[in-house]
Amino acid sequence: MQDTLAIIKPDAVARDLAGEILAAVQAAGLRIVGLKMLRLSKAQAQGFYAVHAERPFFDSLTDYMASGPVVCVALRGEDAVARYRALMGATNPEQAEPGTLRHKYGQSLEANAVHGSDGPDTAAVELAFFFNKLEIVE
Ligand code: CMP
Repeated sequence: MQDTLAIIKPDAVARDLAGEILAAVQAAGLRIVGLKMLRLSKAQAQGFYAVHAERPFFDSLTDYMASGPVVCVALRGEDAVARYRALMGATNPEQAEPGTLRHKYGQSLEANAVHGSDGPDTAAVELAFFFNKLEIVE
């Protein structure tokens, strides 16, 4: 079993797509073991995306991620990191395969509806950013 972090980003939450996206994740066989809605401050968004700090899109990305509430989801399943990444599709919605979340719900490279951890080590760090031990159910 493996855990991963999913985030439903501000553009998707604002369009009331959180329920639909959570249903699609569950239909794909991933279990929700942690769930919360919150609004990141700019500083918190910068902390979460610190790995991208030197990228030209960092300031815009962190403004966007702090622009409204997000839904943070801890997912569990066999090979959950790769399976959730496959469900999300390519980062750029224009390149995402039909049937993927970003193809269906993404609006742009930045407002691409969902985030997912890119590997098991990153997942552990990203899950710990949003959830303490008590907030992940067994
Ligand atoms: P995400 O998977 O959340 O990780 C970093 C985010 O930066 C990415 O999704 C995109 O939404 C956003 N982003 C904006 N511009 C770019 C870019 N040029 N290349 C990659 N990611 C970008």
